[in-house]
Amino acid sequence: KARVDALLQEETELAGLLRAMAGRFTPPVPGGDLIRSTDVLPTGRNIHAFDPFRMPTEFACRDGAKQAELLLATHKTLPRTVALVLWGSDNIKSDGAPLAQALALIGAKPRFDSFGRISGADLIPLEELGRPRIDVVMTLSGIFRDLLPLQTRMLAEAAKKAAEADEPLELNYIRAHAWVYAQENGVDLETAALRVFSNAEGAYGANVNALVDSSAFGDEDELADAYEARKSFAYGVNGKAAANPALLQETLKTVDVAYQNLESVELGVTTVDHYFDTLGGISRAVKRARGGQEAAIYISDTTRGKGKVRTLQDQVALETRSRSLNPKWFEGMLKHGAEGVRQIEAQVTNTMGWSATTGKVEPWVYQRLSETFVLDEDMRARLADLNPTASSRMANRLLEAHDRNYWHPDAEMLAALQDAADALEDRLEGIAAE
Ligand code: BEZ
Ligand code: MG
Repeated sequence: KARVDALLQEETELAGLLRAMAGRFTPPVPGGDLIRSTDVLPTGRNIHAFDPFRMPTEFACRDGAKQAELLLATHKTLPRTVALVLWGSDNIKSDGAPLAQALALIGAKPRFDSFGRISGADLIPLEELGRPRIDVVMTLSGIFRDLLPLQTRMLAEAAKKAAEADEPLELNYIRAHAWVYAQENGVDLETAALRVFSNAEGAYGANVNALVDSSAFGDEDELADAYEARKSFAYGVNGKAAANPALLQETLKTVDVAYQNLESVELGVTTVDHYFDTLGGISRAVKRARGGQEAAIYISDTTRGKGKVRTLQDQVALETRSRSLNPKWFEGMLKHGAEGVRQIEAQVTNTMGWSATTGKVEPWVYQRLSETFVLDEDMRARLADLNPTASSRMANRLLEAHDRNYWHPDAEMLAALQDAADALEDRLEGIAAE
């Protein structure tokens, strides 16, 4: 710890930059997460990411299998289909542990060639697996798709091999689902077993975050539409993408569980708008595909200890208490001035993103956010002084959440919130007129 503290005090980045610009040697260093590996210090060196031929590592496979079992142990019944959101950065930080979870759920493992390089996926025999093969819809961020083409193909191969395995249907849900789809739609089994979905080549994100940010949706099913329009490109064992919204929709009908890993203590699901864009987006698409019946939604928090699986509702509540409403957090933010207020406002908008996509935000969350940041006069004045635009947006967002029926303040509170929003808007207009 003393060594890390000492290294963190050093100013190495500016020196490194100047050295590189002078054309001198910049020593290499593996990139990564400081909390997982202190080898990344000192910074200011030449970061190399990872060896794509060795991901997932054996350690990541063992960890992935454990996290997958933890998920299965948390959910009351054995899911038939799991929707797993995979990000590039998360996999790079952990040598592929999240993608190894997908392999574990399917009952597969990476195959290595004679040089020890990743060359595909093989099935683990059912006797060894000890449970049915679970169907897994893997939705990749555009960044994952770009950075991890070998792994994209490996995941597609795992699903294909599972569908083609001569095994009883009650022990192999991918095969069971793919068979029915192939019969009913007159396609081959390989097409029916496509389970790796992402954006079209060159495109990123589900656009659900932009719709929430700009309040540009009416019914929440419009968010499911956006998600499907963006994320329905199926990637096959050859790594090529083809639009297949019908297959995605059919596969979503059997999803009982949707989840994503949380890989970094620096971020929570309410810190940035990408979590509700991806996990929220697919959860809404599942709900619509299942005629209004929602899937269970979990966050697999692997940031400390052995890992913990939480319901999304508990995760949002936890982050509300430990970040948004925690004076240590918001006072720290406010030291950053206008940008700090923007971060607090982002927490509120991202929280509403979870209501819009999943409905898993308890009403007290909005009530306490309103009390703390808008109805408290001193705090409201502090925020407005530092960032009048973000303050006004925050008050209006809380009102929007009420308009959309995500919480139900009593008449008195609603009136106070409306008055505060009006005052903040007047103030903004005053500034614009100056
Ligand atoms: C990714 O690494 O895949 C990612 C990072 C931030 C937002 C969305 C995706
Ligand atoms: Mg992990």
